[in-house]
Amino acid sequence: MTALARSGVVDGRAPDDIALLADPALTAVIVRPPERPPWLDELEQAVVAGELFVERTTLESVSLDDFASWAREALTGAPAGVSAALRDDMAGILAQVMETARIGRVMVRVFTEAPTRRCGFHVDTVPPQAPTIGAVRVYNGATTEYVHGDDVLGTAEFYGYLAHRERLSREAARTEGAALGELVAMDERPSFLRPRTTVHRVPPDATVYFRHIDVRRHWSPHPVSDAWIHRSPMCGGARLVLNVSPAERARRRGPG
Ligand SMILES: [Fe+2]
Repeated sequence: MTALARSGVVDGRAPDDIALLADPALTAVIVRPPERPPWLDELEQAVVAGELFVERTTLESVSLDDFASWAREALTGAPAGVSAALRDDMAGILAQVMETARIGRVMVRVFTEAPTRRCGFHVDTVPPQAPTIGAVRVYNGATTEYVHGDDVLGTAEFYGYLAHRERLSREAARTEGAALGELVAMDERPSFLRPRTTVHRVPPDATVYFRHIDVRRHWSPHPVSDAWIHRSPMCGGARLVLNVSPAERARRRGPG
């Protein structure tokens, strides 16, 4: 097995490098444009200043047209120099996921929020039998953190950690933070990782196309390479985040 396959993550140069995920040893392709589009500076200022605000929204199953209608409405407050470029960029990510998965509807989660400690390392799920490649894009601020597959002790260790952390996170919310110290310790030294493992961070301005897990296999002893283990950052300012995942089964391929 190559070092690349063991890490499970590769850099892409263009959105259609999502096709690299046909290799089952890969869990994520990180696509970063060669140059930072200038409208992202204005976007960052607007998000930090609260001028561009998107309430946490889940669009359970949307077509490209549905999404375009939602985005026109939701981004009316965005600066004029940002709005159209942002809508195009988001729609491009949806289109890429749909095309790769051969589907017409995706689930979209989008929000502007500062990071919290609510969610730690996890894998994202898709409905039963849906294709498993989705995407995350952080438009400003602290980016997503992830680990290489070869640094993970095993799926059982990972799910043991996840179950424990989810319990603690609920407890911390209920008891107004009494469990917070333990949560911080779990985040600083995740028990499912080999000693001295590096936690990696997605570079700014990148879209990550990554492997989700069919919800029926979540918590099962599947290979580590079947899903990308990642987490949101734990602190920092408000960020605009877009998540896209398949919401339906793939169409059958036609003849020829
Ligand atoms: Fe996630």
